[in-house]
Amino acid sequence: MSRYQHITTETVLVATTVGVLTALSLYWYQKKRKHVIPTVWEPVGKVKSLFIYPLKSGHRIELNTAICTDYGIKMPKSGPSYQFCDRNLLIYKEENNEFRTARQYPKILFIKTAPDSIQKDCFTLNAPEMSELKVKIPTLKDANESEITLHKGEKIFTIDCGDEAAKWISQYILDTDSGLRLGFHDGEPHHRRNVTVSHKKYLETYSRFRNEATGMYTDFTSFLIINEASIDDLNERIPDANITPLQFRPNILVENAPAYVEDDWNWVKIGNNVVMYLSKPCTRCIFTNIDPETATKSEIDEPLRTLRKYRLLKDIKNNKLEGHLPVMGIHTGLQNGGEISVGDIVYVGKK
Ligand SMILES: *[C@@H]1O[C@H](CO)[C@@H](O)[C@H](O)[C@H]1NC(C)=O
Ligand SMILES: *[C@@H]1O[C@H](CO)[C@@H](O)[C@H](O)[C@H]1NC(C)=O
Repeated sequence: MSRYQHITTETVLVATTVGVLTALSLYWYQKKRKHVIPTVWEPVGKVKSLFIYPLKSGHRIELNTAICTDYGIKMPKSGPSYQFCDRNLLIYKEENNEFRTARQYPKILFIKTAPDSIQKDCFTLNAPEMSELKVKIPTLKDANESEITLHKGEKIFTIDCGDEAAKWISQYILDTDSGLRLGFHDGEPHHRRNVTVSHKKYLETYSRFRNEATGMYTDFTSFLIINEASIDDLNERIPDANITPLQFRPNILVENAPAYVEDDWNWVKIGNNVVMYLSKPCTRCIFTNIDPETATKSEIDEPLRTLRKYRLLKDIKNNKLEGHLPVMGIHTGLQNGGEISVGDIVYVGKK
């Protein structure tokens, strides 16, 4: 090999190494960049409605003002009442501690939970043809903590609400005195979900889905944002359907934005202070086909059937994990908390 060839080989090697390193640092820079809070915000719409679902799968409470916390939307202070957080309660099977939702028991949609207006440590349960039950909020002082199994085998903390609540829930749903129980989350930071093992694939696919983005008993993150225009567009595609945003169980419903722009809202600011980041698209399940007002499942598999025709995640984003599922809405995590209200301007981060 001549000296000249030797130098050329070396040069090529060095150049290649520099090239690879540059590409790698650019990649890391880009990846890191995603977590930088934007400084330029552009208005995209405004808050039309705010909803909290104190019981997972249960009836909604509509709010004018809400407090955005790490764990999701919290009710604003009102007298001495307990300030429920979104999905603060959930129903589980006594036999094996597995969670239960309206997917198995659509009647859960009719259960209304509300803070007691006099006693700070109580809430009420109501449902059609049931008498109201006042339940004392359990604490670890007088009840044992238990572990409930959620989706994907995830074990999650709960405090049981006691025998009376269990009986009421079982009577309403199963028509017997036992079988189901009610669990409560106390909101302590050290009781936060740990999805490291159960959701490993999700953590690998979505760089911004992480423990800090999870809610109490939500499926994924603390917040679900739905864009009204996207629901309107879906409605136009289904003859005679009357699909409402409520079917998609939003926490924050945004109006005046073009349809489907939410897919790319990597950063969202609401009002002056609250900042959220896109954690993952919301892929929709069979629950979407249940009418929240009648608790009946669509006999024609709508709106899922239509959604599958044009909103599969693989057609929107290159996604292998959940590509076969249709998307409506975005799951967000909280960056900066605070109060938000109906009418607040919604901004999207530009850079
Ligand atoms: C908590 O667990 C202990 C030990 O299993 C049991 O003795 C006690 O009765 C339980 N307390 C309640 C309130 O269920
Ligand atoms: C979550 O679980 C993983 C795996 O068991 C563990 O390594 C990690 O420390 C846990 N994280 C927290 C915050 O508890």
